[in-house]
Amino acid sequence: MLAEMVGTTRSRVSSFMNKFRKLGSGVYVFASNSQRHDKPGRLPRYQEARKRDHLYIVVGAVRHARKPIPSPNPRWLTIPERGLFTGIAIFGAVGTGKTSCCMYPFAEQLIANQAHDRAKRIGGLVLEVKGDFCTKVHGILKQSKREAGNTLPHHAPVPPANVTVLITT
Ligand SMILES: Nc1ncnc2c1ncn2[C@@H]1O[C@H](COP(=O)(O)OP(=O)(O)OP(=O)(O)O)[C@@H](O)[C@H]1O
Ligand SMILES: [Mg+2]
Repeated sequence: MLAEMVGTTRSRVSSFMNKFRKLGSGVYVFASNSQRHDKPGRLPRYQEARKRDHLYIVVGAVRHARKPIPSPNPRWLTIPERGLFTGIAIFGAVGTGKTSCCMYPFAEQLIANQAHDRAKRIGGLVLEVKGDFCTKVHGILKQSKREAGNTLPHHAPVPPANVTVLITT
């Protein structure tokens, strides 16, 4: 009937319809695949540690939960205050960035937190064997306009519970 309506043969209409179906399914596959790749979203603005009104540290960013691809709604990965009292262990092979990617940024954030308020800012004790981390901490303290205290040897007595302890190797 369609062949008669458009003035052609039945086999031509059937061949056209087959091609159309293949094209249609191709378009469908393309459309369903393209839906899987979400448009990359933007991370919320990074809050400077000295401007934070409560204590937490930013460890990194959370993007796609299972794949190394962009996420439509990335967010900062943080450790809240209650997670900072029980200790953090950083594992990694030699030279993989434990100190530069964790110890330094964590120390910067802890030292900068409420740095302007003598009553609220965080006290700390740094224990280390190499010596370079203490030098770095002196620099971070200066940056936050805080005075550096004494650097104690690694066999110092156990510190009181209200003091942040940074131990590095
Ligand atoms: N993500 C990175 N990209 C580029 N360079 C890096 C990265 N992470 C660390 N580095 C560089 O690698 C070197 C070793 O880093 P770092 O001292 O932080 O490692 P580590 O794991 O603390 O080493 P160690 O086991 O000796 O204490 C440094 O020069 C640092 O600048
Ligand atoms: Mg190190």
